[in-house]
Amino acid sequence: MSTVPTQESLRDALRDIADPVSGRDIVTAGLVEAIEVRGGLVQVSLLTDRSRAPQMEPVRAAVEKHVSRQPGVQNATVVLTSATPAPAAPQGHGHAHGGAAAKPKLLEDVRAIVAVASGKGGVGKSTAAVNLAVALAQIGLRVGLLDADIYGPSLPRMLGLARKPEVRGDKMIPLPAWGLKAMSIGFLVEEETPMIWRGPMVMGALEQMMGQVEWGPLDIMIVDMPPGTGDAQLTMAQRVALAGAVIVSTPQDIALLDARRGVKMFERTRVPVLGLIENMSYYCCPNCNHRAEIFGHGGAKAEAHRLGIDFLGEVPLLLDIRTASDAGTPIVAAAPDSEAARAFGAIAQSVWAKVNPAQPAKGPAFPRIVVS
Ligand SMILES: Nc1ncnc2c1ncn2[C@@H]1O[C@H](COP(=O)(O)OP(=O)(O)OP(=O)(O)O)[C@@H](O)[C@H]1O
Ligand SMILES: [Mg+2]
Repeated sequence: MSTVPTQESLRDALRDIADPVSGRDIVTAGLVEAIEVRGGLVQVSLLTDRSRAPQMEPVRAAVEKHVSRQPGVQNATVVLTSATPAPAAPQGHGHAHGGAAAKPKLLEDVRAIVAVASGKGGVGKSTAAVNLAVALAQIGLRVGLLDADIYGPSLPRMLGLARKPEVRGDKMIPLPAWGLKAMSIGFLVEEETPMIWRGPMVMGALEQMMGQVEWGPLDIMIVDMPPGTGDAQLTMAQRVALAGAVIVSTPQDIALLDARRGVKMFERTRVPVLGLIENMSYYCCPNCNHRAEIFGHGGAKAEAHRLGIDFLGEVPLLLDIRTASDAGTPIVAAAPDSEAARAFGAIAQSVWAKVNPAQPAKGPAFPRIVVS
């Protein structure tokens, strides 16, 4: 007979774990905020103060291990959630090395954090984020790639990564792939785990992927955002200094003004919009190389202009882009000379040119050329 775990049986089991501060068990100490059970899949959220989050990481890990061992549990995920509100959004913006007063709390060793977003789902954000990140690594930059899509993470499939990150001390080590470092909730939970996270849990998981991961110093971090304008967007805007956002759109969405919604959201949170990428811009026939502009041409550029933002470039609709993504080998790595790779490469160069913080004023200045 198979045993099915229940909230009660798990709550009892959690009494075996002690709260290091009060010395009482974590249930009595009031740390267990929620236990969600779906068959053999369990998610537990532990309440903690933001300031105590680093000390709580070993407790979180111990709870996860303990719950995983309970009869009938196939997979357990434990996240820390915070009862205290996040500090106010930094008023300044721009590069991670911006004003001293508005210093961000998380990811301070990253020179520029760039969100790849859209107003709508399925337009190619993850495809663009992955390929831009790999292209940036190909030009020799230290690149991080963070999957902020907690409900539908894409990085494990697109990067071909299925293993769990190593934990050293209280930090997770991001997984290396294609010259960059990557982190996704998809590395931590099984693919079939239903994503039943609620708002605070999303924020908690996202914050852990920023604060409790050994990213090390990076030149740029690309953040693959979930669709829409929800919790993840707010968390990112509040907890890190975003250097900017890149909006991905398809030609149809531009017509439907979804791109505008994405742009507006970042304007509201005072994050500079670096520009617009038009994805699935035109169809390129793999047999005869014929270029078919199914949705017309030039609309995105004109719309970007109307919105007062830069147009970063267009990416064709190509079967190879999808098959490369599905195979876990991004097109810029699989076929660096392809039209698609060149398109992503050029966009990556302009993104870097826009966010590359000014060189520190050290060393000799460039010689002034005097024409006499
Ligand atoms: N330029 C392209 N050519 C061909 N296929 C593409 C292109 N861009 C994206 N796709 C495919 O379209 C699908 C959706 O892309 P992707 O997952 O990147 O979108 P998304 O905006 O991240 O979606 P979500 O909103 O669900 O996160 C994927 O199967 C992807 O391989
Ligand atoms: Mg996506």
